[in-house]
Amino acid sequence: MTLGNGSGELRGKRALVTGGSRGIGAAVVRRLLEEGAEVLATARTTAYPAPEGAAFVTADIRTEAGTQALAATVQETFGGVDIVVHNAGGARAGDSAVTIPDADWQDALDLNLLAAVRLNALLTPGMRDQGSGAIVHISTAALLPPVPVFAHYQAAKAGLESYSRALAAELAPFGVRVNALAPGRTATPGGEETRRRWASTDEDSGATGTPPLGREGLPGDIANAVLFLVSDQSSWITGTSFSVDGGEYPRN
Ligand SMILES: NC(=O)c1ccc[n+]([C@@H]2O[C@H](COP(=O)([O-])OP(=O)(O)OC[C@H]3O[C@@H](n4cnc5c(N)ncnc54)[C@H](OP(=O)(O)O)[C@@H]3O)[C@@H](O)[C@H]2O)c1
Repeated sequence: MTLGNGSGELRGKRALVTGGSRGIGAAVVRRLLEEGAEVLATARTTAYPAPEGAAFVTADIRTEAGTQALAATVQETFGGVDIVVHNAGGARAGDSAVTIPDADWQDALDLNLLAAVRLNALLTPGMRDQGSGAIVHISTAALLPPVPVFAHYQAAKAGLESYSRALAAELAPFGVRVNALAPGRTATPGGEETRRRWASTDEDSGATGTPPLGREGLPGDIANAVLFLVSDQSSWITGTSFSVDGGEYPRN
């Protein structure tokens, strides 16, 4: 079977995609639908219509109540879940690493780290029981360059990757795979806004420029990698984190 040609690789799989209304999340939703999965997408608002064919529910996943309501909807909609893509993320830019307000730190940690932790606490017991599942945590490739105005965002994503590895080790014996995927600069509403704020603080910041492969990423570039990580084509891969960034931020 060839992956990614609408071959039905994911037929019978039930998938949750957070932040599935636009940008990378919407591309992931479309990719999973193309491969035959049933998909539930979430976002706080309906400002962007979720891709056709997906179920959609509004949820603010920065709070415990929001993640509990979302997990209950997953249960009502599907009766369980096979694939979870923790994609919703982002942060309000600060003025410097020293002056980022406490509330913005909390917001960044809630959205980029704790939402996944809380949702996984509610959803992984069912995956363990069924003896299968695939979880993908969307991180960022730009973890290593220091970016003072996004210190809270980088810290939250670094924490997400560490947590992802620990969860992978715990769930591997139960057939549940957990990986992190780190996008580089990708053409989305959130990505453009982040780079605009980053560039406005420091002209030489690295917020502008072209990745070695000669172009910025498209949401579909990230969605293709997510598809690989949630399909059986990656059935011997867990506990990893890899970048999809046109070669911009080598980690090793
Ligand atoms: N684009 C890039 O260049 C880039 C680079 C590195 C990493 N990433 C990561 O990739 C992921 C997707 O980024 P993107 O650029 O596609 O973002 P985006 O264009 O800003 O879209 C974010 C999505 O998340 C939803 N969302 C935001 N806050 C939420 C909340 N509290 N509860 C529920 N849903 C929420 C948004 O809908 P609502 O606003 O309606 O809630 C939207 O559907 C993020 O984790 C980001 O950190 C992106």
